[in-house]
Amino acid sequence: MSKSIPKEQGLDQTLNILKEGYEFIPNRTKKFNSNVFEIRVLGGKRAIVISGKEAAELFYDNEKIERAGTLPKRLVNTLFGKGAIHTTTGATHKDRKSLFMSLMTENNLEYLRKLTRNYWYTDTERLQMKEQTNVYLESTLVLLKIGFRFADVPFDTPERMEQYAKDMNAMVNSFGSIGTVYSGYKKALDARSRVEDYLEKQIKLTRKGKLNPEAGSGLYEFSHWKDMNGNHMDARLAAVDLMNTIRPLVAINRFISFGVLAMHEYPGERAKVAKDENSYAYKFAQEVRRYYPFVPFLPGKAKTDFTFEGYKFDKETMIILDIFGTLHSESLWNNAEQFYPERFEHWDGSPFDLIPQGGGDYYTNHRCAGEWMTIIIMEETMKYFAREIQYDVPAQDFTVDRTKLPGQVKSGMIIENIRNNF
Ligand code: HEM
Repeated sequence: MSKSIPKEQGLDQTLNILKEGYEFIPNRTKKFNSNVFEIRVLGGKRAIVISGKEAAELFYDNEKIERAGTLPKRLVNTLFGKGAIHTTTGATHKDRKSLFMSLMTENNLEYLRKLTRNYWYTDTERLQMKEQTNVYLESTLVLLKIGFRFADVPFDTPERMEQYAKDMNAMVNSFGSIGTVYSGYKKALDARSRVEDYLEKQIKLTRKGKLNPEAGSGLYEFSHWKDMNGNHMDARLAAVDLMNTIRPLVAINRFISFGVLAMHEYPGERAKVAKDENSYAYKFAQEVRRYYPFVPFLPGKAKTDFTFEGYKFDKETMIILDIFGTLHSESLWNNAEQFYPERFEHWDGSPFDLIPQGGGDYYTNHRCAGEWMTIIIMEETMKYFAREIQYDVPAQDFTVDRTKLPGQVKSGMIIENIRNNF
């Protein structure tokens, strides 16, 4: 006999998800005292929410869970792009994922580390000329430049680069709508076409031999890669997926502003990051990714009938993996609500508990292709703010409102009076 799944009453919880944000699932796992519960969403569709390490292990079992076709269409249009790798499955997914992962060589990642250091270091002059710096906004442009350079995409004019940086934020902000009708939809679509147009042009120039990016760079590889059937990607699709290596890189602006906030709010953290003893900056970056709210949950559906923790799941049922709640689960993380980077000294590296960028395997699951890149950029950026400059932090609204998607520091994290740290 299978157990009956606790059920949240109501015809559609979508509005409550938008109202309660990151707290929606944890509020209910507490209420039901269960890591599994049922809701109705997106116009009354039945969905089962699952939370925790075992839940993540189930979610990334390709035999039991299908991911394709589960992302809301409007979200695909704004955030990931039509035909994006996120929407693929089976052999096509594995084939294309190998292209993304081929960029993650030791050499490339070392190059990314150097780019991050250099771009922040040279940005100091600009920071010093400004009365105040909004770390979130400043990071957007610095990261866009790092993303373009890493992919070997030529810079557009300074005005257009500023525009693309704003465009990246508009696309990322669109996920706060969970695919519902919202006022920023058209703006996010326009933002996407602008950047896709520019990248598609670079891909076409590369294919014609009028542009010669380095072999191994994103622009080179996405332009020349052939899929398992021996075909080049359609130029627009190549632009969509090349952008899927740049837009999420720019989204690290959220982690950066959270990290600068953590160094301000928790005594001793800034000094420890500056010293970087026993790879402290690495542990700090991991804790920022665990602690602060970014991805709330991920959708999938049952590929077949199966039983999980005594509950019966029927084929086709929508399954929602709780990301934020898993990262804050007291049974997985001691004093989960405490910001404590040292917890990563003894972490066993499980692919199913630290899942801010998805879990499972990089090559066969949808786990984030850019997780190593994210950690490297965070380490180097945090060391820059801790070591290379001194700054003052004026009074401002430091709130990180967990009921608002996507998470961010309310003020953007303002710093001022930037000095060189000789
Ligand atoms: C997938 C989060 C940075 C490229 C994902 C997924 C999440 C995520 C949650 C989906 C996992 C799943 O569906 O199971 C993040 C966050 C980032 C970040 C929070 C930092 C702010 C990056 C970077 C890249 C990147 C720097 C650059 C290459 C991708 C790609 C996928 C992906 C290509 C699709 C993988 C697939 O479908 O197999 N990311 N990501 N991400 N991410 Fe990231």
